Amino acid sequence: MLSTRFLALIVASIATLAVATPDIAARQVATGIIMACQDANFGAMCNNITFVENSCTQLPASQVNQVDSVQVPPGWACTFYDLKSSTTCNPSDPHTTLLPPGSSNLGLQNFHDSLDEFMCQLLCPI
Ligand SMILES: *[C@@H]1O[C@H](CO)[C@@H](O)[C@H](O)[C@H]1NC(C)=O
Repeated sequence: MLSTRFLALIVASIATLAVATPDIAARQVATGIIMACQDANFGAMCNNITFVENSCTQLPASQVNQVDSVQVPPGWACTFYDLKSSTTCNPSDPHTTLLPPGSSNLGLQNFHDSLDEFMCQLLCPI
């Protein structure tokens, strides 16, 4: 039969684990801002679009299929998608991953006037 003392030790150990575990999961979800512009070289109409890490973000309706340059902020890698299927940020759809500072001419990535959505991840998640 288990002694009361041994049971108390187990309970204390589990309690310690329960307290310690949330620290690992506590990192706040990071956000960033992408500047997307209608013309190459950040010309014509631009928008600063806030995004959440690892989450698919749609371009504003006024910019869908109308963007030719994008700024990727320091510390992020962003994948840009030309939405063809019904699934958002689908790896089967045409896509290109850009590091900072982004692209001043998306024609070079075969993305002239075809960007619909993007998803960014931190280069060095803490
Ligand atoms: C977007 O942010 C950049 C950098 O902070 C700023 O220079 C630019 O004016 C902003 N553009 C718009 C359209 O808000």
